Amino acid sequence: MRKVIIFLILCWSLGCSQNVNRPGSSTVSPATNSTVNSQEASQSKDPQMDRFINDLLAKMTLEEKIGQFNLLAVGFDVTGPVVSKNVDENIRKGKVGGVFNTFTPSAARKLQEFAVNNTRLKIPLLFGYDVVHGHRTIFPIPLGLSTSWDMAVIEKSAQIAAEEASADGLNWVFSPMVDIARDPRWGRIAEGAGEDAWYGSQVAKAMVKGYQGNDLTKNNTVMACLKHFALYGAAEAGRDYNTTDMSFQRMYNEYLPPYKAAVDAGVGSVMTSFNEINGIPATGNKWLLTELLRNNWGFNGFVVTDYTAINEMVPHGMGTEAEVGNLALKAGVDMDMVGEVFLKHLANSVKEGGVTETEINIACRRVLEAKYKLGLFQDPYRYTDENRAATTIMKQEFIEASRDIAHKSMVLLKNKTNTLPLKQPGSIALIGPLAKRQRDMIGNWSAAGDWEKAISLEQGIRNVAGSKVKINYAKGANITDDEQMIKRLNAHGGNLDIDSRSAEAMIQEAVKVARSSDVIVTVVGESQGMTGEAASRADITLPGQQLELLKALKKTGKPLVIVLMNGRPLALKWEEQNADAILETWFAGTQAGNAIADVLFGNYNPSGKLTTTFPQVVGQVPLFYNHKNTGRPFSGELLDKYKSRYLDVTNEPLYPFGFGLSYTSFSYSKPQLSTTTIKMDESLQVKVDVRNTGNYDGEEVVQLYLQDVVGSITRPVKELKGFQKIALKKGESQTVTFNITPDLLKFYNNNLELVLEPGDFRVFIGGNSRDVQAENFKVIK
Ligand code: BGC
Repeated sequence: MRKVIIFLILCWSLGCSQNVNRPGSSTVSPATNSTVNSQEASQSKDPQMDRFINDLLAKMTLEEKIGQFNLLAVGFDVTGPVVSKNVDENIRKGKVGGVFNTFTPSAARKLQEFAVNNTRLKIPLLFGYDVVHGHRTIFPIPLGLSTSWDMAVIEKSAQIAAEEASADGLNWVFSPMVDIARDPRWGRIAEGAGEDAWYGSQVAKAMVKGYQGNDLTKNNTVMACLKHFALYGAAEAGRDYNTTDMSFQRMYNEYLPPYKAAVDAGVGSVMTSFNEINGIPATGNKWLLTELLRNNWGFNGFVVTDYTAINEMVPHGMGTEAEVGNLALKAGVDMDMVGEVFLKHLANSVKEGGVTETEINIACRRVLEAKYKLGLFQDPYRYTDENRAATTIMKQEFIEASRDIAHKSMVLLKNKTNTLPLKQPGSIALIGPLAKRQRDMIGNWSAAGDWEKAISLEQGIRNVAGSKVKINYAKGANITDDEQMIKRLNAHGGNLDIDSRSAEAMIQEAVKVARSSDVIVTVVGESQGMTGEAASRADITLPGQQLELLKALKKTGKPLVIVLMNGRPLALKWEEQNADAILETWFAGTQAGNAIADVLFGNYNPSGKLTTTFPQVVGQVPLFYNHKNTGRPFSGELLDKYKSRYLDVTNEPLYPFGFGLSYTSFSYSKPQLSTTTIKMDESLQVKVDVRNTGNYDGEEVVQLYLQDVVGSITRPVKELKGFQKIALKKGESQTVTFNITPDLLKFYNNNLELVLEPGDFRVFIGGNSRDVQAENFKVIK
C-alpha cells in the first residue's frame, strides 16, 4: 500500500473511419502567435462557458496560464518515483492547476481555500485521485468487476465510488482504465476489463456513466479520466512500461475500441500512457492525441500525462527536457502530472519560439473548461461538505452493494461431483496463506480503502456459517518465500511476513489439520501487490511453496476446494487436474470474506465468466480467444508436424474466455436464424432456448460470437459481439434473441476504413467462447 507519506502540505465501433489519419499526416494547423484568436475563442457548444473562459484567459499572464498545466502529487499517497515539492509557494504564485492524492473534506477545503484566497485570479484547483474500484468502500478489482458480465453492477460500482469520492473532497478520478491486455505477465491486467475490445467497450461506457452521471455539476458526480491512452496493455513481454509495437489493423480492430467507447460516452479527461506508439511516446504523439483523439473522435475534454511521462521522453530518446515539453504541448497534452516540465520550460519556449502562446491558450482553455464543467467556479467547495461525507462514506447500502457485486465477480472454474456448495460439513480445514488475510482482500489501487475494515475469508466463514461449522486452520505456506520480493512488496504496504517455520513444517501441520477435517478449503494465490503497476511476473504459477502444499493436501484424500485470490490469469494445470473444486475470487473488496463464504455455502450461486484466457503454461502467452486462423491451423492430429503448434503443450487454454460454471447446469437448443441471407443494410436475428437443467436457480451469460469468414484482411476465428445475462429458476427455460446489425459485422480494413464486406459469416452461441454452436449466413450486396 502506498500510504507512506504523511500529509505534506498545509495540512469507433470507432466511428471516425473514413478520414482516419495515419501518423505523420498531421492535420493540425500551425498555431499563430496572438493572445486569443478565433480558433481558440469558441470551441464548445456552451456560449456562456466560452464567454467566461475568454474573459478569464484575457486576464491571465503567460505564467498563470502555464500554472494551470501543473498537476502536483500532494497528500497521502505516493504513486510514482518523485513527489512534488514547494507546493504552497507554487499555489500562491498561481503555478498549480490541480492536485492529486489529497482527500477528506477538511484537507481538500483547506487546500482549496489556500488556492482561492491566495492567488490573484482565485482559480480553484482540481482534486484528482486513483479511485479505481471504489473509493472507501472497495469493490472487486476491475478484472473481477469485469467477470460479472453485468453492466448495471459495474456502473453502480463506479457510481458509488463517485458518491464517496465527491463526498471526500475529490472531483476527478483516474479511471476507467480500459487497456486491453492479453499477456497475464503484465501486472496491470488486474486493472482492466480483460482481453476483448468489444466487451471492454461496454465496460468503459458503464464506468464513465457511473462516475459522471448525467450532470457533472452535481456534487455527487466526478469527472472520469480514461487511461492509459493508448495501447499500454500491449507492453512487450508483459513487462510494465515496455515498448509496444503493433499493426494498424490490430490497433483499430482490437485495441482502440474501448478508448473510443469512453470518449463517445463523454469522458471528461484522458491520461496518456507511458509506452511508445509507432516509435513516438504516447505523451508526445500528435497523431494519437490530436489527430485521432480530437480530430477523428471529437474528444473535447483535456489530456493529462501519466506520472512524469513528459520527463520520461528524455530517456525514451526524444530530446532534452525543454524539447520534450514542447513536443508534448504540441502533441495535445494539457496537463503535466508531477513532472513540472511545462512549468519549468514553457515560458522560455514561448520566448524562443519553441511553442506559441496560442498553443498555450488552447491547452489552458481545456483545463479551465474542466473546472467550469465541474461547477468549481460557482462553488470551489462543493465537494467538501463534512456532513455529506459523514452520511455517505461507507454507508450500509454501499457495504451491501460491495458484497453483492463481489458475489457476481466470482468465477467457478471447476466443481467435480458438486463438491460445492459445501453441505454444512462438521469441520473445514481452512488452509493457506490468504485464508486470514485482510490486506489483500481490497486489492491493488484500493484508493482510500481501509484494509482493516475488509473481511477475511476466515471471518466470512464464521459470519456466514456460524457455529455450525468447526474451522481447523493452518497457514500451510507463505504466499512467497522470495525475500527480495517480500521486501519490494512491503516497501509499498504489502504487509507480508515470512513464517519462521520451515516449508516442510508448515505443510506437515496443514496435512494434520486436513486429516482431522471433513473438507479442505485452501486459500491460495498472490498477494495484492503482485499485480497492479510495476508488478509484472515472468512466472505466473502459484508463487512459493503453495503448489507443494496443495500436492501434500491432495494425498490426504479429503475433498480439496481451492479458493483463488489473484489479480491475473494464472497457469494452474496441476490444480485443474487435481482439485475437486476451484473458485476464482480475484481480490473481491471490502466484503470479500463474506461474499466468498456466501458462495462456498450456496447462499449465492456463482455466475461470473472469465474475461481473460487462462493458459496452461506461461509459454503460451499471449493466448487469446479471438486469434487469427493462420495458414496452418493445427487440427489436433498428433503427427501433423508442419502446423502452428507446440511440441510440448497443446494450443488449448486451460480455461477459455467467457468460461465459468454454476452450481446448476444449462442446456442450449440449436440456434435458429431468422434468415440465412441479408443485404448490407439489413439485420438478422438469432434465437436460442436456454434451459436450467440442474438443481439450483442460477444465472447464465449467453454469449454471441461472429466470424467474417473471408475478408480483404484476415479476420479472427470468432469475436464476441453480444451477451445476455439471464436468471433461470430450476427447470425454467428462456428464449434469448440477439439482433445482428450491420454495425456488428464491420471491421477496419487496411485503409483503416470501417467496412462491412459482403460474403460468408458464421454466428456462434454458447456459454463460453469454446463450447459454442455455429450457424452460417451470408451478406449480399
Ligand atoms: C499510473 C496511473 C495513475 C497515476 C497517478 C501512474 O503511475 O500509471 O494509472 O493514475 O500514476 O497515481
